[in-house]
Amino acid sequence: MAGLKDKLNDKIQQHRPRIQKLVKDYGDVVVDKVTIGQIIGGMRGLKSLVTDISYLDPKMPFVEGLFYLLLTGDIPTENEVSDVVDEFRRRRIVPRYIYEVIDAFPCCSHPMTIFSSAILTMHRESFFAKKYTAGINKMDMWEPMYEDSLNLLAKLPEIASYIYAKLYRDGKRMQSNPNLDMGADFAHLMMKPAPYDDVARLHFIIHSDHESGNVSAHAGHLVGSTLADIYMSISAMINGLAGPLHGLANQEVLRWLQDVRDKMGDEIPTEAEMKQFVWDTLNAGHVIPGYGHAVLRKTDPRYSIQRDFCLKHLPNDPLFKYVDMLYKVVPPILKEQGKAKNPWPNLDAQTGVLQWHYGVTEYDFYTVLFGIGRSIGIAANLIWDRALLYPLERPKSITTDMLEKIAGIK
Ligand SMILES: CC(C)(COP(=O)(O)OP(=O)(O)OC[C@H]1O[C@@H](n2cnc3c(N)ncnc32)[C@H](O)[C@@H]1OP(=O)(O)O)[C@@H](O)C(=O)NCCC(=O)NCCS
Repeated sequence: MAGLKDKLNDKIQQHRPRIQKLVKDYGDVVVDKVTIGQIIGGMRGLKSLVTDISYLDPKMPFVEGLFYLLLTGDIPTENEVSDVVDEFRRRRIVPRYIYEVIDAFPCCSHPMTIFSSAILTMHRESFFAKKYTAGINKMDMWEPMYEDSLNLLAKLPEIASYIYAKLYRDGKRMQSNPNLDMGADFAHLMMKPAPYDDVARLHFIIHSDHESGNVSAHAGHLVGSTLADIYMSISAMINGLAGPLHGLANQEVLRWLQDVRDKMGDEIPTEAEMKQFVWDTLNAGHVIPGYGHAVLRKTDPRYSIQRDFCLKHLPNDPLFKYVDMLYKVVPPILKEQGKAKNPWPNLDAQTGVLQWHYGVTEYDFYTVLFGIGRSIGIAANLIWDRALLYPLERPKSITTDMLEKIAGIK
């Protein structure tokens, strides 16, 4: 067994008795109460999922090193990172039919549709699905899930960059560079010079994991809980990410900014003008994309990391100046409006500016970049889901009539 897989196996054997004990001896202990507001309000904040992969405390190692950290909880040594980089490199080759699937899409298809379909199409490669059909013991299911996960993650940069080439460039396939790590190889595939390699690493890392209750993570977990393989689960996750209230918000931020820019010509708006744009958006019944969060109640640390990068590398970028001004203008307005529980920016408010600055100006593509990063975190979760034998997810629904009785209205 390879180093990472060996270590993961040790961790799984240590962790399994903890879950068994919790279920057997403490299964009736109450963790949370459920209110009518939570039932109608999309289960917001309800503690009903378990993940030991993260608790919203982002860190910043190399992409492959981050995968090691997410899987084992240990910071890898340089050698251990190199091993995982090698592991990923060996699995990069994308089957030819995936290029044909991408080629077959009708024009004007959204890149997220193509990305999700390309991933789903690779279901036929799944070791997990084959082993399941052959009758695998459930204690061993994490192993083919691990193999499938690495196989899929290693291919995502090449698939995504081909979608980019097809939609926005000359449609020519780039060969992956076997000497490069994931971030640098992605920069090479996108034909972007340094520091885009660092931008890619930063991007994939900060988008990788965000607890398990957000829509993309939850969608991946839900589908995986049926013992669907990684290709089905990650494709479902990508579909969840493609909604404008979730991952697509980074595209929406750029669309909003470009709209302001069109109205302003090349002028940077004054604070008063920017405030008016924000109020106009709110008064039209729209959200301010890139602001607010279902759980966080302060500036998203992933926003701050990207902001620091922008301040260092592109402080005079005109679009960054817009975003910087929005940081001053939007929170007081959202507070004054009094609806959003969190008036502060989330990571999507900064992402597009970085991409735009380095020449990736096709903002429809931004959520695909998010999807590469998020797949790393979801895959780590799914491997552990199988290792800890988490069951099929099946919450109970009740009717409005029942709620009214519980509330004492009827
Ligand atoms: C992220 C988001 C979906 C969280 O939703 P939520 O948990 O329901 O947020 P809240 O509880 O704060 O919402 C309460 C109200 O404030 C509004 N609100 C929240 N964020 C807002 C924003 N950025 N702009 C305007 N209104 C906002 C909601 O639409 C809701 O209005 P309603 O009562 O008329 O339905 C929401 O903040 C949003 O739509 N943000 C913009 C899109 C975005 O950036 N998404 C990426 C998230 S990482």
